[in-house]
Amino acid sequence: MRLDDTYGRPLRNLRLSVTDRCNLRCHYCMPEEEYAWLPRAEILHFGEMAALVDVFIELGVDKVRLTGGEPLLRRELPRLVRMLAERPGLRDLAITTNGVLLGEQAPALKEAGLGRVTVSLDTLRPERFTALTRRTGHAQVLEGIAALPRVGFTETKLDTVVIRGVNDDELADLIEFAKRVPAELRFIEYMDVGGATRWSMDQVVSRREMLAVLERRYGRIEPIVESTSAPADRYRLPDGAVFGIIASTTQPFCAACDRSRLTADGTWYLCLYAPQGVNLRDPFRRGATPEELKALITGRWRSRADRGAEERLALRERAPLVPIARLKQDPRLEMHTRGG
Ligand code: GTP
Ligand code: 5AD
Ligand code: SF4
Repeated sequence: MRLDDTYGRPLRNLRLSVTDRCNLRCHYCMPEEEYAWLPRAEILHFGEMAALVDVFIELGVDKVRLTGGEPLLRRELPRLVRMLAERPGLRDLAITTNGVLLGEQAPALKEAGLGRVTVSLDTLRPERFTALTRRTGHAQVLEGIAALPRVGFTETKLDTVVIRGVNDDELADLIEFAKRVPAELRFIEYMDVGGATRWSMDQVVSRREMLAVLERRYGRIEPIVESTSAPADRYRLPDGAVFGIIASTTQPFCAACDRSRLTADGTWYLCLYAPQGVNLRDPFRRGATPEELKALITGRWRSRADRGAEERLALRERAPLVPIARLKQDPRLEMHTRGG
């Protein structure tokens, strides 16, 4: 089954946020002192999540990524992983985590059938980690990353949000670290998503700038030509090592975007930047059949015309996307609720 939107983009990639809670407070994502959280009663149970994922699989989704907040804070997560890993329609089951709890959970996640792990790693310096996340835990993150190859995970990725004056002097160090894991490092341009209330254009280090810095250090960097829907463009260093850059701010990938996201309370967003989502929880809890849910999802996807990051790029003056007061009224506007 292939379901296309108005630009011919298929529904293929679902990001499933399992909790809006997080044990870190990254400057680019959760800079506030206080947050409005999703009401507990509205958080989907694992059975509900798996049933909704089944509906998406029937409509063509074959990649699911578990996200948060921090997904490892959701109790008994390996139980959900096991349920999803059993679905024959899923080609790829992955997770994006901040790594703090990864060391203790990696064996159970592997055993439950999780396919791949992506860990956010913005710095190799413990004191910077503490300043950036307002929490401790850097050593635990490094332990978590080290645990991955030990328990048999391959194709690990490390994601670094690059911010001027914060960690832009660590690009080569991070590449060298990733080689040793082994993992593929991806540099992400700082994005003006909901929740990034301290965002400003002058803190964004563009892909072009990152490549210039890295060429000075490594010599010629070869772009890898491939046509995928993946957000990262990949590059090869003279020694063969590969890394990626996700240039969502200066060169968005909306044209190839096959992803949508389901928040932990069952609200379905067709774009990271969308102001509104589709409430799937209420129809599901009222007993809608899979056919009825399919019809709802199909109708919305067929009329999808979102290209949020491109629209942001077209603005002449760019400032944070959502004012803090609105984030307090609708926590679903937050990146940490939408799943990064
Ligand atoms: P794979 O390619 O399957 O490994 O995963 P991924 O790159 O989709 O997942 P990951 O969670 O590592 O995403 C990397 C980063 O890309 C995110 O943390 C965001 O910064 C950015 N990103 C993810 N989804 C979107 C999206 O829908 N739109 C935009 N503009 N950026 C996104
Ligand atoms: N810009 C870019 N990426 C972000 N993330 C969260 N906030 C931002 C932002 N403002 C992404 C990072 C992080 C993941 C969980 O969400 O990639 O690693
Ligand atoms: Fe940081 Fe991810 Fe937590 Fe946001 S959700 S504060 S990016 S660890």
